[in-house]
Formats: sequence, structure tokens, C-alpha cells
Amino acid sequence: QPYWSPHIAHELITTAQSLVNPRGKGIYATDESPDVIQALFDGVQVNDHEERVWTEAGKKERRKKWRECAYNAVPSEYISGVILYPETLVDFGLAPILAAKGIIPGVRANGELMPIPSSPSEFIVEGLDGLLGRLQAARAAGARFSKWRVTIACTSKERGLPTQTSLELQADTLGKYAAISQEAGLVPIVEPDVEFSEDADLARSAEVHEKAISMIYDRMRTYNVLLEGSIIKPSFSLPGLKFANRDKYKPEDIAFATATVIARAVPTSVPGVAFLSGGLTPALATHYLAALNALVNSSQAPSPFARLPSLTFSFGRALQGDALKEWVKGNEEQTKVLLQKWSQVCWRSARGVVSD
Ligand code: 13P
Repeated sequence: QPYWSPHIAHELITTAQSLVNPRGKGIYATDESPDVIQALFDGVQVNDHEERVWTEAGKKERRKKWRECAYNAVPSEYISGVILYPETLVDFGLAPILAAKGIIPGVRANGELMPIPSSPSEFIVEGLDGLLGRLQAARAAGARFSKWRVTIACTSKERGLPTQTSLELQADTLGKYAAISQEAGLVPIVEPDVEFSEDADLARSAEVHEKAISMIYDRMRTYNVLLEGSIIKPSFSLPGLKFANRDKYKPEDIAFATATVIARAVPTSVPGVAFLSGGLTPALATHYLAALNALVNSSQAPSPFARLPSLTFSFGRALQGDALKEWVKGNEEQTKVLLQKWSQVCWRSARGVVSD
């Protein structure tokens, strides 16, 4: 039996629809762990004064200030939802800033990565223990959706990654997580992040995406997940950075491979697909998203691309990267300008428009 009542099912479907519609609107991902956000701050060169030493309390206050600045700046005409780290949601209590603007707050549900004993270069994600209680607390703090990211290695076929074992583990984890998230009244965003650091070509990346995503929906059905009240956050199909001939692929090739994966593997009952940026530059990530939507917008039946759900963004680095640099340098006004600029570029891309 499903956990959700008709009332909760209606709310899940409405929230999922509002995250990906009207076309163009998408999600801003700000759920980096404290260590990762600190590394992003540390990565910015600040010239004019001597190195400052931060206490733990000082680092925490700095994280809070950055989030506050970003949430005050982010424009609700382009951004439907923001993913918060639990500290930001529960300890800092910042969801009301977003909710007051009509932006839906969400929470990162997944824990940390652990190597798989039989295949130590692949990782399972911790966090299922005690998850229901944590997600209920997140809902009480204002969250209406959650996300869980798994990483999936991807090499050429000869080099053999991902293993079948890791694909089964990731799919099963995401299926269980999605069911628990809906039990807590939160729309689940399942995030299979297929890496592009290795030697796979574009066809291999698409093959791995299609298999991984198909297995995830198989497990989501097993665990009775209400697909209409869920979203998927995949990577674009991309050639690996170690694939020798990667420059031969144009954004239109990436768009075609990615659209094929979505058409084959994502059930039509799912209201939307919100892509991660995965370390691509803001220009490339938005260009790929624009090429994908341009392809879909120009497709007519009987093309399977004519009936795909909303294809939008759930970007972290590609949306806030430039703004964060300005904030670390103390330029608050420019931070706001850049967050608004990139939110608009993302929105245009999700409508199929390439920005200069
Ligand atoms: P990026 O867009 O920076 O990959 O972040 C999205 C995200 O939420 C990763 O889990």
C-alpha cells in the first residue's frame, strides 16, 4: 500500500508541477556541505588584505551570510525552488525568505559517499537510517521537496564501469529514498549523476544514462512511488574528459543524445526533468540546456521528442559560480546582479533560447 493519502498525493503532484512549470522556471541548488562551500570560498583569490583565519563559529556565520544574500537576490520570476542544506534550513531557518517570494524551499536528503567494498572506485550514498524523522523535521521547517544524489562512474565499455552491482545499489537506494520522502510529504528529486571524468564517448554515456535511469524507475515502481509527484535530476549525456575526440561533439549532438535518453527511460507520468550542471562552465551548461529545448520545441509528432516533459535546470555551480566570487570579494551589489543575470540565462535556456 502507498503511504500517501489522496490529500498528500494532490499536494505532491501540485508541488512537483510548480517546480518545473511554467516552462523556463527551474531550481537553484544550494545544498553544498559546509566543507564544500568553504572550499568554494577558499578558491576565490582575494588580493588586497592579508590571509584571514576563520574560527568554526566564524565560518558558520559566513555561510549563513552568503546564503542570506543569495536568497534575497534570487528572482522568483525565473526560479521555482531552492535546495537547502539541512543546516541552512533547520539551524539558520532561512526557508521563509524564499517562501515569502513564492519560491519553494527543498532539502538535501542524502548523506555522504561510501566506497562499495567489491568495487572501491564506486560509491554508495549513506543516509537512509533515520531519514523519515529528518525529512519530517525538514517539512516542519518549511521544505516541500527533497533531493538525493548518487554518483555513477562511467568509462568506456572495455574499462567496465559502472558495475551492475553499483547500478543496482544506486537504483534501490533512490527507490527507497523516494518512497520515504513522499511518506514525509516531500516531493522526491532523484539525482543520478553520471560522471564525465573518464574515457567514455557520447554513445557510451547515453547507454549508461539510459540503463541507470530505467533501473531507477523500476525500483521506484517496486516501492510504490507516486511518479506524478516526483522529479528526476540527471546529468546531460556527455563524452568523458579523457575521451580523445571529444571536441567533435557539438551542443546539438549532446542535446540529441540527452533527449533520446529521456524519451526512452523517463516515464511520461513524471512531470519534469531538472538537469544538474556537474562542473560544466555556466556558458556550456546553459548552452546544452538551450540546445536540448530548441530540439524538443522544433519536434512534432510522431517524433518521441514532441511529448517530453518540462526539461529545465537544477544548477548549483553554473548558476551561482560567478556571483559567489563577487560575494567573497565583498561586492554585494554585483553578487545580486550576477545571480539575477544567470537565473535569467537559465530560464531562457529552459525555453530553448541561447544567450550570447
Ligand atoms: P551542480 O549544478 O553544481 O552540479 O549542482 C547540482 C547539485 O545539486 C549537485 O548535487
